[in-house]
Amino acid sequence: MAERWTPDSWRKKPVVQLPDYPDKKVLGEVEKQLGTFPPLVFAGEARALKRQLARVAAGEAFLLQGGDCAESFAEHSANNIRDFFRVFLQMAVVLTFAGSSPVVKVGRVAGQFAKPRSSPTEKQGGVELPVYRGDIVNGTEFTSEARTPDPRRLLDAYRQSAATLNLLRAFATGGYANLSNAHQWMLGFVKDSPQSSRYEEIAKRITEALDFMRACGIDPESHPEMRTTDFYTSHEALLLGYEEAMTRVDSTSGDWYDTSGHMVWIGDRTRQPDHAHVEFCRGIKNPIGIKCGPSMKPDGLMKLLDILDHDRDPGRITLICRFGAGKVGEHLPQLIAAVRTSARNLVWSCDPMHGNTVTAGGYKTRRFESIVQEVREFFDVHAAEGTHAGGVHLEMTGQAVTECTGGARAISETQLNDRYHTVCDPRLNAEQAIELAFLVADLLKKERALHARPLQAASGL
Ligand code: PEP
Ligand code: CO
Repeated sequence: MAERWTPDSWRKKPVVQLPDYPDKKVLGEVEKQLGTFPPLVFAGEARALKRQLARVAAGEAFLLQGGDCAESFAEHSANNIRDFFRVFLQMAVVLTFAGSSPVVKVGRVAGQFAKPRSSPTEKQGGVELPVYRGDIVNGTEFTSEARTPDPRRLLDAYRQSAATLNLLRAFATGGYANLSNAHQWMLGFVKDSPQSSRYEEIAKRITEALDFMRACGIDPESHPEMRTTDFYTSHEALLLGYEEAMTRVDSTSGDWYDTSGHMVWIGDRTRQPDHAHVEFCRGIKNPIGIKCGPSMKPDGLMKLLDILDHDRDPGRITLICRFGAGKVGEHLPQLIAAVRTSARNLVWSCDPMHGNTVTAGGYKTRRFESIVQEVREFFDVHAAEGTHAGGVHLEMTGQAVTECTGGARAISETQLNDRYHTVCDPRLNAEQAIELAFLVADLLKKERALHARPLQAASGL
């Protein structure tokens, strides 16, 4: 018999990666206050996402998950959110149209603030301070004041998440995501972008298809699914005090949902089966992601699945694989084999970012070629195993940053300095993200041809 779960039962378990707040009294007050704040998402929405992920698990759709490594308080602007959403929609269009697959859209956004770190402190010129753990915890500046974890930042993060989500909901349902706008999403995109003509071609074909449908009497005015889209939010469930405060009973089902985002994931550093993060996630009914790095072995994975997916709920689990280019063949097949023997239906997704971080010229960066290589290896293994390469999980932005090298514009290591804005990991810029979407669309098409499995028509995008 499993022990009884409560939103705070994680507090009795060993825990890693939580900040050491000097002011526990204020922390307690803030968490109490958060517990009285309105939910950011509704249980019914999390259930709808789970149903969509169940379609991905069944090979009928593809998961696109992406956004900032860490959202920042300083860069919280309408333009940033719009640019991210636009690139995300463009990627979804490419995957839907060129990859002929319905796309489940999940942002790393509206709550993706807290970061696990490899060391609790950072040293500069003989001075040692707490490491930066994301704006929800402390500041980036290398001063004792900025680096001291401040509980009040939890309230700022909640409010920023609410404002971001509000705008995203408006974009998703208020007309911006209307498929007739596929051409306009191109505006603001650099005209000479290497991907622009490929994207223009798709936008043209969509316009033609819409004109044809209109002539047949089907138009966006009378079909809301053509002018709106389903967009969901996700983040790493790292700061358990925050997540606990946002966890509420759903009045319709009596189940507990973490209402801080539709989907949450457990990071590669916090997935110990007997520790606090797994304990917390086992009791909430949201879709859960599990990061799988090279240290994830079949036994460990089975143990986690028994705890986190006790009911074998379709769409409940997404395994987010992040082994690194050149390592997928060594790690993924054994995990697929283990999942197969346990007869579970879950989503396999590929995070080609976190296993491919390198340092160059003093910057943390990622080579676009390594990212592409890991995605290819992921699709190759699934093709060999006869399983569905279900999704990708990306760190990306709508801005023209220079944080990852390579891509069609061949960003070099010496150019990283030009527009390196991330406060944490290097992200794909808008062009690189769309370039990757085209590549994934090709791989998806190949997978479909291999299985000759008809996919159901997309609703909306
Ligand atoms: C992340 O997704 O930002 C992250 C820290 O990933 P991982 O847990 O896989 O290292
Ligand atoms: Co990251």
